[in-house]
This record gives sequence, C-alpha cells and structure tokens, in this order.
Amino acid sequence: MTVDKTELDKSIKKVQAEFWLPTETLDKIVEYFIEELERGLVDGTDPLGIPMNLAWVMEYPTGDETGDYLALDFGGTNLRVVMVHLLGGKKLETEQSFYRLPHGMRTTKDRNELFEFMAECLEKFLIEKHPSGIPENKTFPLGFTFSYPATQSRIDAGVLQRWTKGFDIPGVEGEDVVPLLMEKVNNRNLPIKVVALINDTCGALVASRYVDPLTEMGCIFGTGVNGSYYETVNAIKKVKGQLPADIPEDSPMLINCEYGSFDNAHKVIPRTKYDLKIDADSPRPGQQTFEKMTAGFYLGDLMRLVLLDQYKNGLLFQEADSKLIKLLETENCIDTSFLSLIESDESEDLSLVKKTFADALHYEDATSDECYFAKEVAEIIGTRAARLSICGISAACKKRGYKNCHVAADGAVYLKYPNFPERAAEGLADVFRWGRDLPYDQHPIKIVKAQDGSGVGAAVIAALSHKRQLQGLSLGLKDE
Ligand code: BGC
Repeated sequence: MTVDKTELDKSIKKVQAEFWLPTETLDKIVEYFIEELERGLVDGTDPLGIPMNLAWVMEYPTGDETGDYLALDFGGTNLRVVMVHLLGGKKLETEQSFYRLPHGMRTTKDRNELFEFMAECLEKFLIEKHPSGIPENKTFPLGFTFSYPATQSRIDAGVLQRWTKGFDIPGVEGEDVVPLLMEKVNNRNLPIKVVALINDTCGALVASRYVDPLTEMGCIFGTGVNGSYYETVNAIKKVKGQLPADIPEDSPMLINCEYGSFDNAHKVIPRTKYDLKIDADSPRPGQQTFEKMTAGFYLGDLMRLVLLDQYKNGLLFQEADSKLIKLLETENCIDTSFLSLIESDESEDLSLVKKTFADALHYEDATSDECYFAKEVAEIIGTRAARLSICGISAACKKRGYKNCHVAADGAVYLKYPNFPERAAEGLADVFRWGRDLPYDQHPIKIVKAQDGSGVGAAVIAALSHKRQLQGLSLGLKDE
C-alpha cells in the first residue's frame, strides 16, 4: 500500500514542528540553565534542580603527572578495566579489557551482584596482566569512574544520589559506593585501594586538559548526558565554612554538574507527548528531564513512539505483521544505533534503512514511505538532541566567561550519530550569534573529541589526588 504523499509530508511536518527548537527557545533555555547552575552551587539538594556535585579535583593537570594507576570504568553499557602508565611530558600508555555487563544487571534486585561483578573483572584483569601471580608487595591505586550522580564529601567517597540510565538496583541509592566495592575487592584479597571516585565528564575534562590546555569543559553525549567544568571555591556557597584551611577561596574546584536533571521543574524545555510517555514509563519519572530528551538511552524509544503513532493514526505499517506492532509496543526495542544507521543512509532507494528495519525489528517488508518517514524522523530527533545538548555548554561558558575554548566530548551519540557534531556546532553558532557562515575552524568555542576520560582521566585524577595525599593536603570537607 502506498500512502498519500500529502498526508505523509503533513505528518512529517507535524513531527518536525513538535521537535524543532528555534534559536529564541534555545536562548530562554540557556538563560534558565545559568540560573540552575548558580542555584546548584548554593544548594544542590533540590530534587527539581541540578546537583552541581563537588569533585574535589583542585588542580589542573599539567601533563607531567607520572605513575601507574588502575581505572575501573562503570558507565552504563559495559565495564572496562584500564591500567594507565602516566609517563610525564603528556605521554602515557594504556592496557585495557572490556567486560560485558551481564543481562539483567541493570535492574538486579541484589546489589551484591553488581559489586561482585566489578571485583571479579578487576581480578580477571590483574591475573591477565600478571600470569605468574598478582604482586603482593604493592597496592594498585584505583580511580573508580562511577558515572552516576554521587555526593562527594571527599574525593575517595561518593554517595549515590539516584540511579540514572535505566539502572534500578535497590540498596545503592543513599550509600557510599566505595566501601560497597572495597568489600568485594577485599574478599578476593586484591591489592587495590580506591584513591578517587570520578565522574566520566570530569575524567573527559581532565584527560583532555592533560594534552590540550584550551579545554574548559568535559561533556558526555552517550547513554546519559552530563557536563563538568572548574568553578572557583568562593563561588560554591553551599560549602562555605566547611572547607579546611588548605583549600583557599581562590582554588579551582572541578564541578560535576549532573545537568541531565536540568529542568526537572519543567519550566523551559518544550516537551512532546512522546517525551511525557518516556518519562512516565521510566523507573524514575520526573527525574533526568534534560537527559531523557538528549541521551542515547532514550533516542531509540522516541523513534519507537513516533513510529507507533503513525501506525495508530492509520498512516504507516498498516499491512505489517502484527509481530512488528507488538514489538513497537515494547519499550526499548529500538536503540540509538537504529537511528544512526538510518541517518547514515545516503542511497536513493534507502536500502540501508530497509535493511535496518529487517535486522533490528525483523521487518523485511518496510515500504519506501516507511523508510522515508523513519529517515526524516531520525533527523528530527537527532537535531533536537544536538541543539538541546549545547544549552548546557553554552550556559557554563557564559557563566564562566569562556569565549575561546575547547569542550571535550565523548559518548556514542557524539561519536557515532551522523551529523551530531555539525548540528551541535550550528546550535552553538546560533546561541552565540556567530552566524551560520562562520567556518567551523573559526568557531571560538569548539566541541572536540575527548581523550579517554573514564580511563586516562580517572588515572590522572587519581594521580592528582595521590599527590595531595602524599603532601598531607585535604581531599574533602573539614572533618567534623
Ligand atoms: C549520569 C552522569 C553521567 C552521564 C553520562 C548520567 O546519567 O547521571 O553521572 O556523567 O550520565 O554518562
């Protein structure tokens, strides 16, 4: 069955209008974003605001840090263990292994399973690297990249505020995750000590700054979304009077914004009915509003809901097998790679889109109208995500007065979603009124590919923290 072209175009235009964010809307979002960043520095406990978590990194890396550090990267999709040899002179070597998160781990009812799995991966890695036996006379300092919102009273501790990215494991929220990991590490007699708990955005900033002194922000556009930048201690009103004397008022302090929770009060971002549904059906309704509209964990589901709507409206998939409709009614049956593939299809006959429907949804008979519609929608969803994503960057740069700098970005959406970097750069050009014609290489604020934050960044932060420890300097809030 072919669809009336006018009807199809009308439908695409409707979706486009629902998702499009004109520059004036971006302006309003950025303005309110700055307010939320500021409010979070005064009180980060408001569930409707941004936490602005202190990361207790009080130095900029120089590139001359040295030493061997382990990094455990637990970010959302996989688990990775990295051994980083910092050699000084901005040089380093890494060895790493990836471990697939067992199916169902995201929502296991037993928190022990998660921390046991982490310890098991650390053990496997150490054995692999030391086949003749893990050395007993040394302790491996570990940077633990735990990419979820955590309140840190010092650099080597962190209480999980709430799970994000579809995780829902009871007994971890409200707990310090470092002892939970160390219990399992100690049970296995592994010679490991956590010297720093790190957010992936902080790692991205520090790892990139290690080699590029123009870096002022670290961002992740991946399964989740977030950013970090350095504040000056005297701007962080919520810790006034609680800092030890060796952390002066003019010291830099790395802040993990946790801005995935931006606009939880629903004041500025226009939300579509699809956004409302995703939020309502998520394990944590009302939370991570900004993330739910921009991050990889949700973009596939947005596509699913838009496609399903076209079926319900009688426009598309009218002759499809009921199995496809059942699947489209299933949450998370489409992931972001579906959109990336579809967007990357430049062929006349959209053969890759057709193949993607077949591979991902076992739907062999996608019509050319369905393929065309899906490709348009992937572009619409990706464009909104990119334009919205730069609002956090714009707000932090405006707040700090950064006019020429690099923003180090990582995550599958940034790296793999076709046109995402270009659309993000266009969004920045709109907000800062650089004009669309200014060539990218002349953009004063550039989003660049980050160095490996969760591995190398964790190691550099661990080295900075280790150094402070050896110098007898404070690593957190004043002891009561
Ligand atoms: C988490 C952040 C993290 C981001 C990117 C969000 O869901 O709350 O801590 O930085 O995802 O991984």
